[in-house]
Amino acid sequence: MSFRTQPAPVARPNRCQLFGPGSRPALFEKMAASEADVINIDLEDSVAPDDKAEARKNVIQAIGDIDWGNKTLSVRINGLDTPYWYRDVVDLLENASERLDLIMIPKAGNAADIYAVDALVTAVEAAQGRQKKLGFECIIESAAGIAHVEEIAAASPRMQAMSLGAADFAASMGMATTGIGGTQENYYMRHDGQNYWADPWHWAQANIVAACRTHGVLPVDGPFGDFSDDDGFRAQALRSATLGMVGKWAIHPKQVALANAVFTPTDEAVADARAIIAAMEEAKASGQGATTYKGKLIDIASIKQAEVIVRQAEMIAAG
Ligand code: COA
Ligand code: MG
Repeated sequence: MSFRTQPAPVARPNRCQLFGPGSRPALFEKMAASEADVINIDLEDSVAPDDKAEARKNVIQAIGDIDWGNKTLSVRINGLDTPYWYRDVVDLLENASERLDLIMIPKAGNAADIYAVDALVTAVEAAQGRQKKLGFECIIESAAGIAHVEEIAAASPRMQAMSLGAADFAASMGMATTGIGGTQENYYMRHDGQNYWADPWHWAQANIVAACRTHGVLPVDGPFGDFSDDDGFRAQALRSATLGMVGKWAIHPKQVALANAVFTPTDEAVADARAIIAAMEEAKASGQGATTYKGKLIDIASIKQAEVIVRQAEMIAAG
């Protein structure tokens, strides 16, 4: 193992990120009242070009006026390939209150994208004398983004979280689908005359998790477009949680409870994790490096696995 220890990500719950367009201010109070850990008000693709300026004003006002409780408050700015993004950053940092926690950078393609935003944010923060340093999150949703995912995760100390954006990702990769996440009908294996569906998002997700964990960034699963399909959402979220992601977006309020349920360790899982740690303490006390728990091998690595679950549960309980 490398002598460098893996950095811990920011200690805050990120089980669900609820999105809403900056051009629909009627939704903001409802978003604030939701059970989502993170609120993402959008200035990007859910806002039509003619509405961008108005949406910025709505968002700036809402950041100061609405009681967002202890939620993490994030605004998704426009991509660096548009004429809108610099004005998003400048207007937010010149006019929005310091309640704003993060900006989300969409379509991040390489570390220089993050560097460019960091340079602008740093300059406006200094000019305005802002005390609170803005954090960043970004979306991996292009071939370039996934090819450069590790340098993106390492690009700035402001980086807190990174999401997979399935729709733009699929388009950029040339994937033959218009579905936003979830099972893809044509992605199956044949065995003994039957179809078995595999997960076309797996490779990108695992890459994101590895890059994030290497650099102390939270890996998050992005949107699931078919909000009538609760079972499909749950299945996707369970796979993401199994791979190490900490949460998932909600693009409709009904998805918040689904995400929270999947990304909150169950009482049973926490009890098991605590029992594994206790069993290993006993084993260590009697000079053993390995023992059995419920008929299965556990060893020093099991302590670390169990601690992931216990830490997550404790952080959620504290938040
Ligand atoms: N946040 C909070 N509340 C929301 C909401 C959201 N994102 N979307 C809808 N609601 C509210 C509605 O106002 C409605 O409230 P009511 O019962 O008090 O009238 C209730 O939830 C049910 O809404 P529904 O009629 O099913 O949805 P809709 O047709 O108003 O909107 C979407 C559907 C998908 C257009 C809308 O949810 C949306 O804009 N989602 C986010 C899109 C986005 O931000 N995309 C960018 C990231 S991919
Ligand atoms: Mg996108």
